[in-house]
Amino acid sequence: MKIVMIGTGYVGLVTGTCFADSGNDVTCVDIDAVKVERLQRGDIPIYEPGLVELVVRNSQAGRLKFTNNTAEAVPDAVCVFLAVGTPQRDDGSADLRILWTALESIAPHLGKDAIVVIKSTVPVGTNAETARRLRELTGREVHVASNPEFLKEGCAIEDFTKPDRVVVGVTCPEDAAVLLELYKPFLRTEHPFLTMNLESAEMTKYVANCLLATKISFINEMANICEKVGADINHVRKGIGHDQRIGFAFLFPGVGYGGSCFPKDVRALVNVAERNQIAPRILEAVDRVNEAQKEVLFQKLNQHFAGNLAGRTVAIWGLAFKPRTDDIREAPALVLIDRLLEAGAIIRVHDPVAMENVRKIYGSKLTYCPTPYETLDESDVLAILTEWNEFRNPDFQVIRKKLRSPVIFDGRNLFDPAKMHEIGFLYSGIGLESNSI
Ligand SMILES: NC(=O)c1ccc[n+]([C@@H]2O[C@H](COP(=O)([O-])OP(=O)(O)OC[C@H]3O[C@@H](n4cnc5c(N)ncnc54)[C@H](O)[C@@H]3O)[C@@H](O)[C@H]2O)c1
Repeated sequence: MKIVMIGTGYVGLVTGTCFADSGNDVTCVDIDAVKVERLQRGDIPIYEPGLVELVVRNSQAGRLKFTNNTAEAVPDAVCVFLAVGTPQRDDGSADLRILWTALESIAPHLGKDAIVVIKSTVPVGTNAETARRLRELTGREVHVASNPEFLKEGCAIEDFTKPDRVVVGVTCPEDAAVLLELYKPFLRTEHPFLTMNLESAEMTKYVANCLLATKISFINEMANICEKVGADINHVRKGIGHDQRIGFAFLFPGVGYGGSCFPKDVRALVNVAERNQIAPRILEAVDRVNEAQKEVLFQKLNQHFAGNLAGRTVAIWGLAFKPRTDDIREAPALVLIDRLLEAGAIIRVHDPVAMENVRKIYGSKLTYCPTPYETLDESDVLAILTEWNEFRNPDFQVIRKKLRSPVIFDGRNLFDPAKMHEIGFLYSGIGLESNSI
């Protein structure tokens, strides 16, 4: 099937590549000429495990092409996917200007039977508005379908090729049949292909992300209470998780959620609720709790140094908003870095893949270290912000020797607090009974 992907970011590139890998003829379009030129050379602008090999293989097989020429790419396409960004406006609502510009660029070139499929996360009503705009732009009815994406950065290929479910919002069974054909290779293990109306598909994406964000803010709030009352969230987590109604997934306390989706999607649904005269009390609380949680590590550090961080050196392990990605959008590490810089601290950082993105923001204000251990040289404390696998089993003797004082603030609860105390560290996690510092 001939497919066009408009927008070749985290979602568009993974989706387009996986569709090519199942035998489709895919053209990925992006307005960023530098990105297109890099992709044409097999140079992948984002870090996503397994993606390079897949892009190179499918490009060489001639099934995957990259261009910035919409007029050439779109005409014979059966499905034109829109996977452009839908960032947040100042009032929290989703900014759809990029989407509308992309729509205007494809409209004159759409084939008679082409289906325009919205993969970007968009507020309820956007697909209907897309159909209306296309009617205006083309003078005819253009089929529009909603196909929200649930992949996670860091295991995006696995998620896309083995989805728990595929959700499509359609206005006629024929469009659903075309999309089913496209997704069939990924649904061989009987995972469901769910069809619904456009509005339900749009809401499904927001409801999923908002529930996941709610779980994170909930367990973070519980962890903060545990820490004050002598309870240990790790024990509490196990105590609740074995209840099958509750489970363990997404109930790990930490320094708050970040990334390009949860923060903006929670706020966008708040905005949709308010515009429909529903008070979004839970969603507002989820966002507030998360913003506060991103400050927790700084508060602990500040307290440890009795409010005098000026001239202190802090080593930071982990900058990406989660492991296995170089994405730093809304990452908790950035909040800590901002606060520490304001307080006059010196910062030495390491992240396996996200350092270049952080360097673009902070330049020479930070010291970028090629290994985690090098951050510890002349550092007073270590703060851990991202749960990369390579941080889970470090050599604690080396850490002790290098740090000026054996103090670790762990925003991801990577280590066993009892063991840490035994080997002489002052160790503070999130919601742990033995937070003695
Ligand atoms: N990143 C994720 O993990 C994820 C997961 C599920 C859903 N989503 C949603 O998918 C959408 C895309 O997210 P992303 O993270 O891939 O965004 P991104 O910012 O990484 O990529 C968007 C791409 O679109 C390109 N673009 C912008 N205008 C264009 C135009 N007119 N024509 C062609 N290309 C254009 C940009 O240059 C950029 O490369 C968002 O709505 C997001 O909420 C993201």
